[in-house]
Amino acid sequence: MARKIEIRGGKPLHGELEISGAKNAAIAIIPAAMLVDGVCRIENIPQISDVSLMLTNMDEMGAAIRTINRTTMEFDCRDLPPVEEGSKSMSKIRASYYFIGVLLGRFGRAKVPMPGGCDFGVRPIDQHLKGMRAMGAKVEVADGYIYAQAKNGKLHGANIYLDVVSVGATMNIMLAAVLAEGRTVIENAAREPHIVDLANFLNAMGGDVRGAGTSVVRINGVEKLHGGFYSIIPDQIEAGTYLAAVAATGGDVVLKNVIPKHLYSITAKLVEMGAEIEEMGDAIRITSDGKLYSANVKTMPYPGFPTDMQPQILTCLTVAEGTSVVTEDIWDNRYNYVTELLKMGAKVQVDGKTAVVEGQPILTGAEVRCCDLRAGAAMVIAGLIAQGVTSIGEIYHIERGYEDMVEKLKGIGADVRLVEEKDPVRKARELA
Ligand code: EPU
Repeated sequence: MARKIEIRGGKPLHGELEISGAKNAAIAIIPAAMLVDGVCRIENIPQISDVSLMLTNMDEMGAAIRTINRTTMEFDCRDLPPVEEGSKSMSKIRASYYFIGVLLGRFGRAKVPMPGGCDFGVRPIDQHLKGMRAMGAKVEVADGYIYAQAKNGKLHGANIYLDVVSVGATMNIMLAAVLAEGRTVIENAAREPHIVDLANFLNAMGGDVRGAGTSVVRINGVEKLHGGFYSIIPDQIEAGTYLAAVAATGGDVVLKNVIPKHLYSITAKLVEMGAEIEEMGDAIRITSDGKLYSANVKTMPYPGFPTDMQPQILTCLTVAEGTSVVTEDIWDNRYNYVTELLKMGAKVQVDGKTAVVEGQPILTGAEVRCCDLRAGAAMVIAGLIAQGVTSIGEIYHIERGYEDMVEKLKGIGADVRLVEEKDPVRKARELA
């Protein structure tokens, strides 16, 4: 049965909402547990399908995983058989590439399917592979797999300069380097909060990672990682998505379990557009009368405006007064969802990296689909803004990265529901 999200828009949002653990931190930290020679307990794990896939794959590889409560799990990978192969299901998610670093680091060998994930055009992983090669691995790509083998059975430290600022390559090299012999230095490293989170996790387990959060990360290889506790940071993009939703629909909402400084580029932009923001320790309050003004947005690596908020902010700008220019500087092809917004009366012209958005007084409900994860979140925001009913299809994209989005939105007063739709053939038969 296909599932859809149905929204009756135009209702201001009020109340409190709890932000879950960060997806892009969780999907690196969870496989990192395979490097640990002990039991590690990880808290604040988001319940999303990308995490479920990651857990299934690790289970298939022999990891002992115990659920403690809704958001806490215990991992014991001490008796992991010497696996070198990630399962086929892993190719569905982008983060499968972290198994290259993890398996190389632990066993000196890896066979991992080429990564999947959202389709933004070409998504190379050359910088990951360059890093592994510099650490002494022989790497080949054949039959849809990446084959990697440490030449002497164990990786060694290396100086690696990334040609592009890559989140995945920075984290993957950290994973491979933590148990390598000697020191690895990553220059031109990405600085996202989840990179600091992975470093903190590895250090909590006995690793020696320094400089995460700056553009030079140094990893002194250690012999072993020991068990311990760790709590994943809150999801910056989930928080940003709800802030954008409230800014555009109007209302007064407190988001709990956030780190406000991770959100500065987003909150600054929303304030520029007319919303009010108040920091309250590990919570943040947004108030808006729903009347927004145009703004220009350019996506950049952290601490710049995140590409993972581009579809959501552009959607807010479709109803802002004036003309806005959005520039996507990370991914080549991240405007597919604009076609869906046009169905709702938005006026957006895309030319390569740039989208020119002419603010309209209102959007109108329509049948739309999620083109990818953040594009799906943008459709939800559009539905909340729009007059009438919006029906959103292909919501499995949203479920990859947002925990209980429908319930969370209901909790702040949105008129939203999950609809199970019978498959068209069965429906037609029943009607006949
Ligand atoms: N790039 C290369 N070579 C590489 C790696 C990246 O040329 O070896 C380029 C990419 O083509 C892109 C840029 O470098 O133009 C940045 O890519 P990055 O490696 O930083 O992206 P990623 O690690 O594959 C992660 C998130 C994405 C997020 C980007 C940028 C995960 C699993 N994914 O991808 O998140 O857009 O960083 O912040 O962590 C999402 O959550 O919706 C999402 C797509």
